[in-house]
Amino acid sequence: MADFFSSFWSFFIIAGTLGGIAWLVYLLIINSKIKAPAPGSKVESTGHEWDGIEELNNPLPFWWVALFYMTIFFGLLYLLLFPGLGAAKGLLGWSSTDAHSREVAAANEKYLPLYQEYASMPIAELARHDKANQTGGRLFANYCATCHGSDARGALGFPNLTDDDWLYGGSTAQIKATIMQGRHGNMPAWQASLGEQGVKNTAAYVLTLSGRQADAAEAAAGQQIFNSMCAGCHQADGSGMPALGAPNLTDDVWLYGASRGAIEQSIAEGRKGLMPAHKELLGAEKVHILAAYVYSLSQ
Ligand code: HEC
Ligand code: HEC
Repeated sequence: MADFFSSFWSFFIIAGTLGGIAWLVYLLIINSKIKAPAPGSKVESTGHEWDGIEELNNPLPFWWVALFYMTIFFGLLYLLLFPGLGAAKGLLGWSSTDAHSREVAAANEKYLPLYQEYASMPIAELARHDKANQTGGRLFANYCATCHGSDARGALGFPNLTDDDWLYGGSTAQIKATIMQGRHGNMPAWQASLGEQGVKNTAAYVLTLSGRQADAAEAAAGQQIFNSMCAGCHQADGSGMPALGAPNLTDDVWLYGASRGAIEQSIAEGRKGLMPAHKELLGAEKVHILAAYVYSLSQ
């Protein structure tokens, strides 16, 4: 077992385990030496009394002692057959790693035909398939809910997958590509080149893009900056660019918060959202089912 740094710890654990068992056997033998008193004679008291009940020094009943010996025998047999005594592998050669691999292989054998059947169906059709969506929901709970929430509504920095607002596009092919290859949002930081006032002005203009109030002079100065610095990714009208994951700035969906402060922070410090690739981890068949599930959420 590679888990031990040195054989010392293996021997330490063997000595502790066997020593502990030997100590229990010793205690049992000592206790078995107490003889039952002759009928009629008074039993020695241990001196403990609680609520009028006195604890007497009677020997342990035979069945109880026998049970103790059985558990000790069971323990020794277990340690002989299974790994438990330090680095010893046990006579059966069982290991939790092997057991896990066998279970995974068995599950794959059972479910792969099902996944393959789904893999041949178009995602839009699969999204209306109840059984596939149940499987998709379970996969989502296991692999995606930590970031996107169990209801897929996301959180600050983690997009809501149930609405029809998409950073990278909501077509079946785009969703599948997102899950397979992952996505890396790259919003540069502008504080250094625009300065504090420049950031404030641009944020003011961004606010007006979604119809909100802002200082007119600031917004006018911000528009100049936007057209030269931001339109390349967010488009001149601010409607965004799915190929880059540049969000639409004209709606009321905000990945990093809608407040003026949050928008200024996005511009000043930049944002780097990372959606991990799942192709290696899950395989194309499972991603196909997940894509259908995600697609169904916004339909
Ligand atoms: C480690 C956290 C994390 C995990 C796990 C994760 N995601 Fe994501 N996901 C993100 C982030 C962050 C983004 C946004 C990336 C960006 O800002 O550019 C994202 C984006 C997406 C998008 C694109 C949304 C859009 O608006 O275009 C989809 C679809 C998606 N994830 C689905 C999934 C699915 C399905 C799983 C499970 C297989 C999953 N994600 C697992 C963090 C995660
Ligand atoms: C290189 C392309 C690029 C440029 C240039 C760019 N952005 Fe972005 N912007 C992005 C991307 C991509 C995101 C999403 C980041 C993420 O998903 O983590 C983003 C996010 C944002 C957000 C947050 C949106 C939200 O939903 O929370 C704001 C606000 C924003 N950009 C404004 C600007 C402004 C203003 C400028 C110009 C000063 C600018 N961007 C320039 C690519 C760009």
